[in-house]
Amino acid sequence: MSYPIKYNQSISEKEDFWLLEAQKIDWFTFPETILSTDDDNLYGWYKGGKLNTCYLALDKHVDSGRGQQTALIYDSPVTGTKKQFTYDQLLQEVRLFAGVLKGKGVQKGDTIVIYMPMVPEAVIAMLACARIGAVHSVVFGGFAAHELAIRINDARPKYILMASGGKEIDKIIPYKPIVEAALHEAYFKPDGCIVLQRDFVPCEMKSGYDHDWQELMRSAEPEDYVIMDATDPLYILYTSGTTGAPKGIVRDNGGHAVALNSSMEYVYNASPEDVYWAASDIGWVVGHSYIVYAPLIRGCTTIVFEGKPIKTPDAGAFWRVIEEYKVNVFFTAPTAIRAIKKEDFDGELFKKYDLSSLKYLFLAGERTDVATYDWVSNLLNRPVIDHWWQTESGYPMLANLAGVGLIPVKPGSAGKPYFGFDIRIISQDHDFMPPNQEGAVVIKLPLPPGCLPGLWNDNERYVKSYLTEYPGYYFSGDGGYRDDDGYIFITGRIDDVINVAGHRLSTSEMEEIVAGHYAVAECAVVGCYDEMKGQLPVGFVVLKHSFDKDGDQIKSELVAKVRDTIGAVAAFKTVHFVERLPKTRSGKILRKIIRAIADDVPFQVPSTIEDITVLEEIKWELANK
Ligand code: COA
Ligand code: AMP
Repeated sequence: MSYPIKYNQSISEKEDFWLLEAQKIDWFTFPETILSTDDDNLYGWYKGGKLNTCYLALDKHVDSGRGQQTALIYDSPVTGTKKQFTYDQLLQEVRLFAGVLKGKGVQKGDTIVIYMPMVPEAVIAMLACARIGAVHSVVFGGFAAHELAIRINDARPKYILMASGGKEIDKIIPYKPIVEAALHEAYFKPDGCIVLQRDFVPCEMKSGYDHDWQELMRSAEPEDYVIMDATDPLYILYTSGTTGAPKGIVRDNGGHAVALNSSMEYVYNASPEDVYWAASDIGWVVGHSYIVYAPLIRGCTTIVFEGKPIKTPDAGAFWRVIEEYKVNVFFTAPTAIRAIKKEDFDGELFKKYDLSSLKYLFLAGERTDVATYDWVSNLLNRPVIDHWWQTESGYPMLANLAGVGLIPVKPGSAGKPYFGFDIRIISQDHDFMPPNQEGAVVIKLPLPPGCLPGLWNDNERYVKSYLTEYPGYYFSGDGGYRDDDGYIFITGRIDDVINVAGHRLSTSEMEEIVAGHYAVAECAVVGCYDEMKGQLPVGFVVLKHSFDKDGDQIKSELVAKVRDTIGAVAAFKTVHFVERLPKTRSGKILRKIIRAIADDVPFQVPSTIEDITVLEEIKWELANK
């Protein structure tokens, strides 16, 4: 069936469409209803359905005789380690670790925080939680103690599962001091930590509180899966919003499994036994969906890569992995391709490898700019597919569907809506925009299965953040337009969220940190264009008068403060001291204008501006410092 027919069906007969998709996974009890609403008028999928996500990812394949197939490949250029697990072996590890958790008193419905680098044990931990119905919340290893503390307070985990450290290229990152600082800061106190000791960064164990991962594994009893309701939470993943408090995106079990399975078929055209590699991190949604759950539910081989696109050891790292493991479908972020392009523009390293297994390259995390698209599609000479999604959706909302039949690529566009996503472009006055005119990207409710059913313990914020501004629609936070042929172009966030090297961060959180410095009178942090990382945060700071002379010292303190509070990934390195910030007469800082000046793009000066001459001062500062 062609894309337009199937897409229209997914919108006009949504329940029938998602009923058929639900029949493609194994349920212990098939759902009583496909789509329902609760007392708060929020939508839910597959009520009454019973399943277990870990069963779908592992047991099912073993039961059907595919236990000898490779499930997971671990390739770590930073530690010089390679390891493979068959489905049999991975299931065995997960059953044992589920036993470890059970032995520590973890029950269905308890929460668990996972703070680990890209090691197979992190995947084993996630699946073990899913097996026993514990709700995991993975915190990206690049976040600092304060970010971890915020998440501990909100998720209230029974245990923290952690590694003693990670390695960033050649830099060792000890995790223990970070976890200890987070536990010190957090008011919620978990029962303990289960620590995976890594030999290059052993850590001291706090007697009675820290438990050795391997020791517990040696004495654990294998644990069976529990039966979960489709609507039970599988995980919480915190993501940056427009305030300092991250949003705890909740994912349910039933809708998630159905949606991911469907995306593997229609978006990625990945068959069971294909090697599917998402070069992301388990700390991000791409890692949750396309390193862990989707490839395993689909019965593919997945890859856990503890390395970088460059410097581990060189810009041929991705191509080496694709050749070595015969990767069929590859997914990464445009920023990673730009990093490779910078180091190996003529593809000399690329030419060393045989990439004949590779069918497609998928890109997401930020818009794929035309120059990057052109370079990589010429290099690879196979389909390069930009697709758009968010932590909130958990899978692509816009794509070019490899499994249905590719349509011609329009560079700069993330394609057309995926099944079930009724995407509209809307003005601030709630009018639908005609083709080629930019507006807010919204999605008509209900969102399809797998998308967030709410925020952890905060459905009020869920409704306020996503469903209130455009009643009847989900507000994505992105701007964009649809062209005459129905292709959608995402032009970027229209809120305070920025994307730095594929990492989603909040500028208002950075502003809060900078504003908290003793010398700062007021400030604005905006996301400015960066050739490699897409965007970088830049601070515009007005100092209190008595501090005017201490500029350089204060700059380094501000940079260190953001790094220590959020983490190195924030990449906050540039601060401009200005006399004033541009504001409206009512005192609102005009951040969009600051950003436009910094990016040297045209902008309209609002009639409400307090004093237009301040814009010249900002331009002068940018030109001269
Ligand atoms: N743990 C600890 N620190 C981390 C970290 C982690 N997991 N990940 C990144 N960092 C640190 C880095 O070491 C670096 O520290 P530094 O300032 O001391 O050098 C800082 O955070 C910024 O890192 P990064 O964003 O990775 O930038 P980079 O300049 O080191 O590398 C790229 C640039 C493009 C190679 C890299 O950003 C990249 O691979 N991006 C792809 C991201 C991605 O796949 N995202 C997926 C989302 S879909
Ligand atoms: P995250 O929740 O971390 O996945 O980040 C989601 C945000 O990344 C989106 O709201 C977009 O702003 C941006 N994004 C992701 N994929 C794309 C894409 N293909 N094109 C444009 N922006 C993207």
